[in-house]
Amino acid sequence: MATSNRILLGVNIDHVATIRQARGTRYPDPIKAALDAEEAGADGITVHLREDRRHIQERDVLLLKDVLQTRMNFEMGVTEEMMVFAERIRPAHICLVPETRKELTSEGGLDVVNNEARIKAAVARLLRICSEVSLFIDADECQIVAASRVGAPAIELHTGRYANVTAPIKVLDELQRLIAGVNCGLNQGLIVNAGHGLNYQNVEDIAMINGINELNIGHALVAHALSVGLKNAIVEMKTLILACRLRHAITYVQKF
Ligand code: PXP
Repeated sequence: MATSNRILLGVNIDHVATIRQARGTRYPDPIKAALDAEEAGADGITVHLREDRRHIQERDVLLLKDVLQTRMNFEMGVTEEMMVFAERIRPAHICLVPETRKELTSEGGLDVVNNEARIKAAVARLLRICSEVSLFIDADECQIVAASRVGAPAIELHTGRYANVTAPIKVLDELQRLIAGVNCGLNQGLIVNAGHGLNYQNVEDIAMINGINELNIGHALVAHALSVGLKNAIVEMKTLILACRLRHAITYVQKF
């Protein structure tokens, strides 16, 4: 099992664009936010081009493709429109997410089990143009094994349920579910990422889980940026995550 201390932080800048789109202005600029995020230590920049274009626009994705120094993680629904756009921009990473028009945000994982043929074809097509395709799924063994069957090299486990519960026993249940999911993914030979709903209060327990490659965080960073600026918000989050990994490593070394 992986015991790496390194855990990457993917910064999702969708909600910078949400504020811009709310008034149809030119500011705040997600491109500037992405560059600031990279300067503050983001390991990658995530954007979700939604069918309803409620935040990120095609133009943002095209500009980001030109200026990013790290890598773009392009989140998209499994639609022909998005497949064609992805083939045009060739992002470094793609994360396939479920998408329905009315949801506030991605409310559940992709149902790979019941859409295996369609997702398998999409993964094969996208792997021709990008180095990593991941599937955003719940920490459910059947979904994880199906993700492996369809040929995805990576999964992103949905941490939304963990983030939404408050009773300590339920938090523990959700953590155990995620730990089992990470282990199942690693046993299938998958790269395991995680994200959704993570914030400064709940990220530490997730960052302690052995074997997670990357955490994708957006809303909490953009919200905290209103108080401390985006760069500071990212530095604070990175510090929190890295401190967890360090504590984790010390505990591990002390066992021997
Ligand atoms: N990962 C995926 C696949 C997502 O769809 C989102 C939300 O767009 C995130 C991570 C980030 O979630 P949050 O904005 O709650 O941090």
